[in-house]
Amino acid sequence: MGALEGKTALVTGASRGIGRGIARRLAADGALVVVHYGADEDAADGTVRLIEKDGGRAVTVGADLAEPDGHALLCTRLWEALAAAGAERGLDVLVNNASLTGGGHLAELSAEHYDRLHLVNTRAPLLLIQRLLPDLREDGRIVNISSAATRVAVPESIGYAMTKGALEALTLALAKDLGPRGITVNTVAPGHVATETDDLPLPSPEDIAEMVAFLASPAAGWTTGQRLEVSGGLLI
Ligand SMILES: NC(=O)c1ccc[n+]([C@@H]2O[C@H](COP(=O)([O-])OP(=O)(O)OC[C@H]3O[C@@H](n4cnc5c(N)ncnc54)[C@H](OP(=O)(O)O)[C@@H]3O)[C@@H](O)[C@H]2O)c1
Repeated sequence: MGALEGKTALVTGASRGIGRGIARRLAADGALVVVHYGADEDAADGTVRLIEKDGGRAVTVGADLAEPDGHALLCTRLWEALAAAGAERGLDVLVNNASLTGGGHLAELSAEHYDRLHLVNTRAPLLLIQRLLPDLREDGRIVNISSAATRVAVPESIGYAMTKGALEALTLALAKDLGPRGITVNTVAPGHVATETDDLPLPSPEDIAEMVAFLASPAAGWTTGQRLEVSGGLLI
């Protein structure tokens, strides 16, 4: 029996990349996975197909988190999707992975792009957690996906790095608040993750998913408020 048998997990931004890897891994551990996407429903369906091919269970939920009420819409659709799948209302694992990048150096960064970075990378996870808290079960897990860019200076992504720094501050404060309910809150910070065009040895989405799966498992019940970087020792 998998470590997450009988559990329900929501992974935001699971239509591709690292989010897809996390969704597949949590489903392989037995969770019913809600695959969230922003715009690309076909890609999210692709994630579900891969999970089902591996013998897992998943449903999709779409919501644009750059919209001020995107988090609320996500919650409404989440409960509808779970009901349609015959699952009880409630969540055991929340992975805040959806993210926007770009923006450039300070001189190039527009106020509009910074506002969008803030909406998707910081505001949405904060308000999503706030809204989901009553339905997050005891011994639940929250994993926020940040970046090595909060530890290593990346001036060409200054706005992005700032939003990830705020996400890490949220992790720490919440870990203390939610400890009494047995809910852990941790950050996983990838370094540069390998794509098809990279020829360097870099971590893969599956490597990031491995750490998330550990934090989501009963084995990590005493690990909270931590920032775990999965970057192979990038610039240490
Ligand atoms: N890749 C790396 O090298 C790297 C390094 C460090 C940290 N990270 C972090 O790891 C996480 C995943 O990165 P990734 O490279 O796999 O990302 P990605 O391939 O760009 O995928 C981003 C995901 O977020 C969703 N998303 C984007 N904008 C959204 C919006 N407005 N509303 C809702 N969903 C939205 C996308 O959904 P749709 O396509 O459906 O819109 C997609 O599923 C992010 O938190 C990122 O900051 C990545």
